[in-house]
Amino acid sequence: MGAEAKQPATTDAARGRGCFIAFEGIEGCGKSTQIHRLAERIRTAGRRVLLTREPGGTPVGEGIRRLLLEPEYGTLDGLTELFLLLASRRSHLEERIRPALERGEVVLCDRYADSSVAYQGGGRRLGLERVEELNRLATGGLMPDLTILLDLSAVEGLRRITARPGAEDRLESEARAFHERVRGAYLEIARRRGGRYRVLDGAGAVAGLAREIWEAVSRLL
Ligand code: TYD
Repeated sequence: MGAEAKQPATTDAARGRGCFIAFEGIEGCGKSTQIHRLAERIRTAGRRVLLTREPGGTPVGEGIRRLLLEPEYGTLDGLTELFLLLASRRSHLEERIRPALERGEVVLCDRYADSSVAYQGGGRRLGLERVEELNRLATGGLMPDLTILLDLSAVEGLRRITARPGAEDRLESEARAFHERVRGAYLEIARRRGGRYRVLDGAGAVAGLAREIWEAVSRLL
């Protein structure tokens, strides 16, 4: 909690008139489906939407995304990975998110700073507070008005992305332990942030989940 309390307040002037909403969760939690539905709904309500994602969102960010995700670059050590993610975040924030907020748009971001806290801090064990500190440096403390966390068990998330129910080898159990740590870190972050987080059950039906998301978001618009 201490680290969170030190976070500088971001003034309305610094963040513009827009609204910043992030989606978080482990792989397979259904973020992409929901974020696209939400974007449509907000556009139908007459607001301009910037739908974007991390890592990526700018030419530099997309280059970094390739370094991180394409197998030809091999496995990076945790801190190297984190610094690349932070560089991508910084360029994304300055070139796309902040200008959109200044124009009064609704920014929907598929993953933001808390992905690093959960994946690198929790999953890769770099420590939640250490990653939060580096996030503050990269973002100047600009955090979403609301984060939707689609919570899902690691077993179910992995089942959805591999579509191979029942296969149980060493790699899969390592992947499960990693995703369990990521999930646990997300729930810990959500607990600390209180009102700025909405935790929803990612195992729920798509339409019901979309309704709950709209309920939380429409209050902010
Ligand atoms: P992506 O294919 O976009 O997955 P998803 O649809 O689940 O978002 O790949 C993004 C991957 O990068 C995903 O495994 C999470 C990881 N990641 C981190 O480890 N740390 C971060 O800060 C971010 C933004 C993503």
